[in-house]
Amino acid sequence: MSVPPDLSDLLLLGIERTSGTPLLRQVYLELRHAVLGGVLPPGARLPATRALAHRLGIARNTVVAAYEQLLAEGFIEGRVGAGSYVSRDLPRGLEHPPSPAAPLPATTLPNMVQPGAQPFNTGRTSWDERTARTWRQLTMRRLQTPDPAMLGYGDPRGSLALREAIATYLGAARAVRCTPEQVVVTAGAQQAIDLVLKVLVEPGDPVWIEDPCYPALRAAMAAAKARIIPVPVDAQGLVVSEGIAASPAARLAYVTPSSQYPLGVVLSMSRRMELLAWARRAGAWVVEDDYDSEFRYAGRPLASLQGVDEGGRVIYIGTFSKVLFPGLRLGYAVLPPELLEPILTARLLSDWHPPVLQEGVVTDFLAGGHFAQHLRRMRQRYRIARDTLVEVLNEECGAALEVVDAPDQGMKLLARLRPGRRDTEVSAIAEQAGLIARPVSPMFLAATPIQGLMLGFSGHEPGALRRAARTLGRQFDK
Ligand SMILES: Cc1ncc(COP(=O)(O)O)c(C=O)c1O
Repeated sequence: MSVPPDLSDLLLLGIERTSGTPLLRQVYLELRHAVLGGVLPPGARLPATRALAHRLGIARNTVVAAYEQLLAEGFIEGRVGAGSYVSRDLPRGLEHPPSPAAPLPATTLPNMVQPGAQPFNTGRTSWDERTARTWRQLTMRRLQTPDPAMLGYGDPRGSLALREAIATYLGAARAVRCTPEQVVVTAGAQQAIDLVLKVLVEPGDPVWIEDPCYPALRAAMAAAKARIIPVPVDAQGLVVSEGIAASPAARLAYVTPSSQYPLGVVLSMSRRMELLAWARRAGAWVVEDDYDSEFRYAGRPLASLQGVDEGGRVIYIGTFSKVLFPGLRLGYAVLPPELLEPILTARLLSDWHPPVLQEGVVTDFLAGGHFAQHLRRMRQRYRIARDTLVEVLNEECGAALEVVDAPDQGMKLLARLRPGRRDTEVSAIAEQAGLIARPVSPMFLAATPIQGLMLGFSGHEPGALRRAARTLGRQFDK
């Protein structure tokens, strides 16, 4: 078989003398790329090392060494110096570029990721020196006497000690009824959602989601190719009767009963009962996303939906992203026993198990009583931040925002715009001024959108919130 005449030219183009990569490696990579991409098909003869070295203007030894490496790795066969050929048993076209006929799926990622410490980014948390100190001490202790579990693979459910601590906490604080065996520690609520969808939803399956809805959930449902049934939300939360009318045999319903995302309403007890009765009748699953209910400023936290479910239909999902910090990437799901095995299998196939060191530190933080104290202090801090934000928004932005009421719980508030303004436009202007004010209208599906901004207060100092509200107020005058 003949050598493609342009191979030396191809290599010439690919090789860069000034690059930091050694010439040998460049020659090797270019040739390997030509083989994998099918430019050099199986059986093709490679140029003689001397000729190629001459053409490339490099030492012959360099080419010989590159050929030897390709030979050792099985890309070529023969004997260097006596004719080298591309291996005949390599499959063709291993590195073909993606076909233009198969575009990558559209992504909504830019709307979902929330990096940035600027006010009023939501989902940010605070910590204080006391928590930082404790965290350091607990981490050091775990490192000084390393857990033997670090040296091997762990339990896909997460360590038993952490699951016990979570089950105890959930029973006391959220009236969740579960044993540690039902708890699966995940990489945040998002992984728990992903695993549930992987196991329970086939493409085309109808699923109820709240309208408006948490964007990352909607995107996960779309990625699972579920048939999304938007169910409206009123002052009592999800309008269950509308869901039943639209899709009585839905596979599952996703709800945020303690604080609807993004409206903040609480699912009333009668709606909870209606939802559970439907799930039982229809054999459907209810996913309860209980993401930030710990931060309740008026009275005790509300009990979970899972705790009043007599039919075993609720999958309860919680996270340490709010009560501790999002960067930790630890959350959990409490599963009805029949879902344990399939979800654990999916988890195992995805990332084996949670990181052992982080898991250990969080276990010590919970079991040592630090968590309860941290929560108490953060609740106080967030309450001050919330009150500051409400006050300054009403002072500085009263002409553009309707009177802002303090939410009873959570880490953000929803400030509605007065008629005549679009939240997406205001958000874009605020961004120019260095602020993050998420528009709420894109979170609506079929329901009539409201125009409003989601403003986070939990991760921002009162002084920063004051300055930011003043800046936001000035943007409305433009
Ligand atoms: C409704 C809702 N669910 C879950 C989460 C938390 O997800 P994770 O635990 O993956 O950080 C958030 C965070 O913003 C949320 O708003």
